[in-house]
Amino acid sequence: MIEVVDLVKRHGAAEVLQGVSLAVPRGRTAVVIGPSGSGKTTLLRCLNGLDSFDSGTVAVGDLRLDARERGRDWADRHGQLCRRVGMVFQGFNLFPHRSALENVMEGPRYVLGLAKEAAEDRARRLLERVGLGDRLHAMPRELSGGQQQRVAIARALAMAPQAILFDEPTSALDPRSTAEVLAVMADLAAEGLTMIIVSHAMGFARQVADTVHVLCGGRIVESGPPAQILEAPAHDATRRLLQDVQAA
Ligand SMILES: Nc1ncnc2c1ncn2[C@@H]1O[C@H](COP(=O)(O)OP(=O)(O)OP(=O)(O)O)[C@@H](O)[C@H]1O
Ligand SMILES: [Mg+2]
Repeated sequence: MIEVVDLVKRHGAAEVLQGVSLAVPRGRTAVVIGPSGSGKTTLLRCLNGLDSFDSGTVAVGDLRLDARERGRDWADRHGQLCRRVGMVFQGFNLFPHRSALENVMEGPRYVLGLAKEAAEDRARRLLERVGLGDRLHAMPRELSGGQQQRVAIARALAMAPQAILFDEPTSALDPRSTAEVLAVMADLAAEGLTMIIVSHAMGFARQVADTVHVLCGGRIVESGPPAQILEAPAHDATRRLLQDVQAA
């Protein structure tokens, strides 16, 4: 479903992604871990069209973007990535003056062009699915961090994306909210959503990841099943990272 080959992204002189390759089959979950500044957010931004890239290819379903083929329709096709790939951020980025229901309806109504009733039906169903059926009309400020993040997940799902990317979705949350959000994400994984999750919640990674990728200095230094990466890491960078996470 998602395939990245030799992805290079520069910010000025800095090569932030130095040839990243990874593939996530349909219905699978990949977890990406790595130290701060290693390029995790940049990788996700390239995958959902928020950032352009300098070389390599990004493919989602049958949409393939190759940096060598930047033609007239590049911007168009690049924009299509945004529609196909949902993203959930660390800070939830909800519209503060709209209710949970309105936040989730917005995309289906104004981007996908659904009628109000259809958008509302979809939003209601998705909020129920993330356990917020009783908070439809709550404003973001009336919701806990974990509830706001679940609204953000419902909002991403409302666009019927082919895949969803999560960038440290629980790192701003307390333990209880973290558990609520991780439970929703584990359900999505079990339902067969295709996901890439940047997260250092290692117990969760072990439970839901099909593959863990370790990003370090803009390169993937090792990849494998969670048991292998988390219990028998081959790379020093992975060992250091796991020690740091344990100590935190
Ligand atoms: N817009 C930008 N302009 C210049 N440099 C940038 C920009 N965005 C990111 N960078 C640099 O790219 C590198 C990778 O950043 P990125 O945010 O992808 O790291 P990260 O792995 O997500 O880190 P963290 O764990 O702290 O979130 C960093 O050195 C960062 O300073
Ligand atoms: Mg980041």
